Amino acid sequence: MKHELELGYLVLEVPDPDALTPVFSDVVGLVAGAAAEPRTRTWRNDQRVSRVIVTPGPANDAIAIGFEAVDADAFDATVARLRAAGVTLQEDTDEATHRDVARLARTQAPWGIDVEVVLGPADAPAPYSSDLVPGGFLTDGVGFGHVVFATTAFEESHAFLVDGLGFAQSDWLETELAPGIELEVRFYHCNARHHTVALARAPFDLPQVLHHVMFEMNDRDDVGAAFDRLWATDLGIPNCLGRHDNDGMFSFYLQTPAGFQVEVGHGARVITDDWDDNRRYDAISAWGHQPLRQP
Ligand SMILES: [Fe+2]
Repeated sequence: MKHELELGYLVLEVPDPDALTPVFSDVVGLVAGAAAEPRTRTWRNDQRVSRVIVTPGPANDAIAIGFEAVDADAFDATVARLRAAGVTLQEDTDEATHRDVARLARTQAPWGIDVEVVLGPADAPAPYSSDLVPGGFLTDGVGFGHVVFATTAFEESHAFLVDGLGFAQSDWLETELAPGIELEVRFYHCNARHHTVALARAPFDLPQVLHHVMFEMNDRDDVGAAFDRLWATDLGIPNCLGRHDNDGMFSFYLQTPAGFQVEVGHGARVITDDWDDNRRYDAISAWGHQPLRQP
């Protein structure tokens, strides 16, 4: 496994960025970062200046993801691989400054959001600590978490990730959610995290491409404490505590006021150099993850 990329940041655009503050701050335990624009909110789960950027606007969805190249060679190799796969990229110095990175090359993913390959993201001036998550988040060498998108451009998106960005498929899920309703999800890694991106095959264009963003905690008890904080709110709980079959993640899901979900988890399987377990799963979860509460 070539470790060239990590999930650097996620950019969301919602009508009211403050509406997500109770989720990211009070439930998940992310820490507020600085923001250049007055209504924009940024969130940290480690030393980096920002991991989630919430901007005001009508999209009500993810609008960009940043993939951090681990060094200049990895940046150049990723840009070259994308171009060789027929993807048009623009290197943008203004946008690099805006994102607090040394270099940035931008394109659009087939699932409809911007993809920014970046080098040299800044660390925040203030050290990272979260009172709500004393054990911290697992980000070192694996990026800030994972993201799952639903797309009708399923095969094009697969090719973009594998041939362009250089991801490898970890495994896949095919199951029947209800009679006649099939779910197909492919999981992709670019480092030791079981999946940094997963793609769900959408039968038609959905109102949001972002299904969920996942934050992984180092301490299992911190996941339980986050679930207690969630229980004390009136947010929807589409999946209570459970354990995924493929990546083994112990996690729960909450529904944000914007519609997309947030997964908080611990203890996922790790991808190794000799990974040879790219196989089909027919169950989402080994146990748990039942729908618990409507918003
Ligand atoms: Fe997930």
